[in-house]
Amino acid sequence: MKINENFFNLSENYLFSTVGAKVSAYQKAHPEKKVIKLSIGDVTCPLAPSVIAAMHRAVDDLARAETFKGYGPDRYCYGYDVLIDSIKGSYARKGVALSSDEIFISDGAKSDLGNLLDLFSADNTALIPDPVYPVYVDTNVMAGRKVVFANANEGNMFLPMPDEKVQSDIIYICSPNNPTGAAYDRVQLKAWVDHAIRHGAIILYDAAYEYFITDPALPRSIFEIEGARECAIEICSYSKTAGFTGVRCGYTVVPNTLKRGGALLNRLWARRQSTKFNGASYIAQMGAAAVFTEEGEREIAVNIDRYRGNAKRISECLEGLGIWFTGGKNSPYLWMKCPRGMKSWEFFDHLLERANVVGTPGSGFGKNGEGFFRLTAFGTPENTREACQRLGEILK
Ligand code: MLT
Repeated sequence: MKINENFFNLSENYLFSTVGAKVSAYQKAHPEKKVIKLSIGDVTCPLAPSVIAAMHRAVDDLARAETFKGYGPDRYCYGYDVLIDSIKGSYARKGVALSSDEIFISDGAKSDLGNLLDLFSADNTALIPDPVYPVYVDTNVMAGRKVVFANANEGNMFLPMPDEKVQSDIIYICSPNNPTGAAYDRVQLKAWVDHAIRHGAIILYDAAYEYFITDPALPRSIFEIEGARECAIEICSYSKTAGFTGVRCGYTVVPNTLKRGGALLNRLWARRQSTKFNGASYIAQMGAAAVFTEEGEREIAVNIDRYRGNAKRISECLEGLGIWFTGGKNSPYLWMKCPRGMKSWEFFDHLLERANVVGTPGSGFGKNGEGFFRLTAFGTPENTREACQRLGEILK
């Protein structure tokens, strides 16, 4: 019996597991300390009232024989019409028309990002920004796929542009970016779309943070860009938009015009999902369907504003300390340069031990992340305020 030896090419632990283990060890050794976590992008606001009400109604449906639900509907790979229609409505408000069979409901963006790779040969090359969300690299390494990197750095404000000399088949774009918070404008994204079409590549566009965009110059979906239907798949999440990190629900858009190697990718994905996936739970889907209603959008806007307030507070703190950073404007992440030339993990330890504040070391997102550090705005306003105060005290 042979196992998948590609796993030996991964770092021993997933980034956030390493951070979590370090924090637990510190907390165990210092139970009296109040540690503030601004590390993993996990939400702190409770679910919106209309989402809760919809989920309660869904539970009641499951309690009665007349309304009970088993497996989700086959037609759209277990996605319920009411949810698919609400997603179509939210795209229509961005000026993007989708048909129902282009929307695939899932248990979240992270799973879809990994699972989508089933569609592509292991011989393909993946182009992945460095630094970026580690799931992109790790899932490709697990499959033994060749990975090349797009250099994101201070010089390009962490927004690398296509390089005609670099050949790749699968291109990852995350905008607003995790971890840097940087976001592409329409012109930049059009350049990526044109590049992908020219090279016959597919863009996997991670739009998990699109709801944080306030600048109208920035697209919230790659399908706002002409040509994207011929080269892109968009992966979306309710986690950060509506606080579903624990509920689990997301969606992926695979245009039914997207063809490679003589195959319609939409059909391949439908085939993959109907074989290996049984849908997100009815309760989660009904909760998600309440998110893009008028009332739901009004309610989640309050939560997002709270996170924006945190981002503003952290930005002001970093500005006050004279620390270079990106993000925080159209993104819940702030990507700061480690002070005094410290390396990422060195600053992690410094901050944990001296201020009892946890962030995520930039080097965990790629080699270009060395010397940088990520803070999230997903904490509570009270903790964020206190963390900034502590940061100010140790770094002034
Ligand atoms: C992060 O902190 O980068 C995210 O929360 C991870 C995720 O969404 O899986």
